Amino acid sequence: MSMLNFSVEFLLILLTLALFLSIKLIKWKRKQLKLPPGRQGWPFVGETFGYLKPHPATSVGHFMEKHLSRYGKIYRSNLFGEPTIVSADAGLNRFILQNEGKLFECSYPSSIGGILGKWSMLVLVGDMHREMRIISLNFMSSVRLRSHLLPEVERHSLLVLRSWIHGSPFSALEEAKRFTFNLMAKNIMSMEPYEAKTEKLRLEYITFMKGVISAPLNFPGTPYWKALKSRSNILDVIEQKMQERMQEMREQERDEEVDDLLSWVLKHSKLSKEQILDLLLSLLFASHETSSVALALAIFFLESCPKAVKKLQEEHKEIERKKLQRAETSLNWEDYKEMEFTQCVINETLRLGNVVRFVHRKVLQDVEYKGYKIPCGWKILPVFATVHLDPSLYDDPHQFNPWRWQKNGVTSATTNNFMPYGGGPRLCAGSELAKLELAVFLHHLVLSYRWELAEPDQPLAFPFVEFPRGLPIKVYPNI
Ligand code: HEM
Ligand SMILES: *[C@@H]1O[C@H](CO)[C@@H](O)[C@H](O)[C@H]1NC(C)=O
Repeated sequence: MSMLNFSVEFLLILLTLALFLSIKLIKWKRKQLKLPPGRQGWPFVGETFGYLKPHPATSVGHFMEKHLSRYGKIYRSNLFGEPTIVSADAGLNRFILQNEGKLFECSYPSSIGGILGKWSMLVLVGDMHREMRIISLNFMSSVRLRSHLLPEVERHSLLVLRSWIHGSPFSALEEAKRFTFNLMAKNIMSMEPYEAKTEKLRLEYITFMKGVISAPLNFPGTPYWKALKSRSNILDVIEQKMQERMQEMREQERDEEVDDLLSWVLKHSKLSKEQILDLLLSLLFASHETSSVALALAIFFLESCPKAVKKLQEEHKEIERKKLQRAETSLNWEDYKEMEFTQCVINETLRLGNVVRFVHRKVLQDVEYKGYKIPCGWKILPVFATVHLDPSLYDDPHQFNPWRWQKNGVTSATTNNFMPYGGGPRLCAGSELAKLELAVFLHHLVLSYRWELAEPDQPLAFPFVEFPRGLPIKVYPNI
C-alpha cells in the first residue's frame, strides 16, 4: 500500500516537473522567435513619408521595392505613429483576414474615424460591426441585385454615357464618379441624378475624400479641417432626408413604399439617428470612391489594349443581339452572366490597378508566423498590391492581360492570391455590386464608343489611386 502511494506521489512529482520544463522550453523558444527585420526610421513619423510616397499604381513603389529586397516579404517599420509589421506575404495576408476578431482586428488611424464617424463600418468592430454588415449585405443581396440594382445600374450608365459629346475632351474619372455617386445616392436615399441637391452633395464628397487621405491636422484651411466641415454638410443633407422620410412614414403620404436603404433602416433596424447617419455617409463613401476609380482604371488599361476592346465588343454585340431577339430593351440577369470575358477584364483591372492597396489591422495576441514573432499590440498592414504584382505569382505582372483569367488557362495561384476586396469577416460588402456596375457600364461603353486619351495621364497611388489629370479622354461613335 505505502509502496503504491509512494510511486503515485513520485509520478506526480515527475509529471509536474515535466510540465514545468516544457512550459519553460516553450517560453524559451518563444523568446528565440525574432521580430521580422526592419528599422524604426525617424522619431515619431518613422518611415511613414517613404511608405506613403506617390508612385505609379501599376508598380509596388520605390519604398516597397527597397524594403522587399533588403528584408523580404515580412518586415517591421514604424508607420502612422505606431510600431508596424508590413506583410507582402500572400499566406500571412490571408491568415490575418481570416482571423479577424480573434488574432487580429480592424484598426484604422483615428483620423479616419474622425471623418467617417465612430459608427462607420470601417472603424466598428465586434457585434456592432456585425449588425451594420448584415444591413449592408441585405441591401445588396443577390435578389436585390437581380431585380432592382441591375436595371438601376443600366439606367445610370446610359444617363452618363449619353451625355458625352463626341470629339471634345472630358475627365473620364469625373464621369465615373458621377455614375457611381448618382447610382448610390439614388439607392441609398432616393436622390435623383443631376438635381441641384445631388450635385451639391457630390461636390462635398470630393472635399471629403481629400481629408480622408490627408494628414489629420485640424486647423483652419487644412484638408482635414475642410473635410470635417464637409462631413457636417453631408450629414445635414442626410439628416434632412431622414426627417422628411420619417414624416412621410408617419403620415403615410406615399402609397407605395420607398425602396431605398434609408427606408429600410428606419423600418427594420433599431439603430439610433446618429448611427444611421454614419452608416449612410460611410456607405456612400465606400461605394462610390472605389468603384469609380476601378472604372476609370478599366477605361485607361483598355485604351492601350485594342485586342481586349475588340474581344469585349464581340462579347457584348452577341449579348445585344440576343436581347434584341427577345424584343427587350434592357439587360437581364442571364445577359449579365454571359459577360465572361468582361469579368476577366474586371479582375485584371483590379489586379494591376489595385484600388485598395492595403488595409489596417492590429495584433490582438502574440502570433508566430514563418519563425517570426508578430507581437501583440502592434499594427499590421496586409498589402495586397505587392502580392498582385509579384512576378513569382503572376507572369509578366506589369502587363494588362485579361486572358490570364480565362477559364481554361487560369491557375490556382492566380485566383488564390487575388484579394482586391479583402477577405474573411470583413470582405467587401459591395463586391458583387461593384462587378455589376463595371460590367454593365463597359457593356454600353464598348457598344457606343471608341475612345482615346486626350492628354497623357496615368494612375498614381497616393496610396489611394488617382489620375493626376482626371484621365482626359475623347470619344467617337462606334460604327
Ligand atoms: C471595385 C470596387 C471596390 C473595391 C476594390 C472594394 C474594396 C474593399 C476592401 C478591400 C474592403 C475591406 C476593408 C478592410 O478589410 O479593412 C472593403 C470593405 C467594404 N466595402 Fe468595398 N470595395 C469596392 C466597392 C464597394 C461598393 C460598390 C460598395 C457598396 C456599398 C462597398 C462597400 C463596402 C463595405 C460596406 C465594406 C465594409 C465591410 C465590412 O467591414 O464588413 N465596396 N471594400
Ligand atoms: C475573379 O476573381 C475572383 C476572386 O475575387 C474569382 O473568384 C473569379 O473566378 C475571377 N473571375 C474570373 C473570370 O477569373
